[in-house]
Amino acid sequence: MSKANTLNHPLVDCHLSTLRARETRSAGFRQSVRQLSQLLALHATQNLATEDFPIETPIQPATGKRLSQSIGLIPILRAGISMVDPVLDLIPSSEVWHLGFYRDEETALPVHYYSKLPAKPVDIAMILDPMLATGGSAVMAMDEIKAWGAKKIMMLSIIAAPEGIQHVQTKFPEVEIYTCVIDEKLNENKFIVPGLGDAGDRIFNTER
Ligand code: PRP
Repeated sequence: MSKANTLNHPLVDCHLSTLRARETRSAGFRQSVRQLSQLLALHATQNLATEDFPIETPIQPATGKRLSQSIGLIPILRAGISMVDPVLDLIPSSEVWHLGFYRDEETALPVHYYSKLPAKPVDIAMILDPMLATGGSAVMAMDEIKAWGAKKIMMLSIIAAPEGIQHVQTKFPEVEIYTCVIDEKLNENKFIVPGLGDAGDRIFNTER
């Protein structure tokens, strides 16, 4: 079974520490999510296909490059929204489509509540969700995206549990998973440990 791709870099570790720290407030949390999302996206897109096209520099004609496949960013509501802008800054030609799942607090199973995918699928679907815990939400999203017809699916998460990676890779071995870090495990409440708490609540300042 293939492993997920992780980002091994001291600056990634520093931003992850900001996310993990209980005292980090929402503004600082969002800032580190933005930085890490862009680094993840840079890593995940290193083998994207490009095509040449003619450009004129201020000096002379030259050959430019542009992406030759359509990219769709698919944030999982809510927390995935925080990853959209930084990835869109990096890939401005992307389409953005939304899927909504929340995790039932009793069962830890995903509940599907929103879906907006167009008739024509993108070539490459990049699922954005800061957390891959049990993998239930990710697998449901992948079921839907696969049925939609995307040729390739990538999953970008800031933090992942081994259980979630295994769940995804068992169901969708072809999906490329990119994460900043693979934590130790899930606890009895299916939270990632040591983890960073509930990303959605920390991003949107809705911890109560
Ligand atoms: C979190 C997270 C993922 C999901 C991961 O969402 O953002 O979508 O749980 O868990 P799983 O891998 O076990 O399915 P949450 O339910 O907290 O919703 P929110 O984004 O609206 O806060």
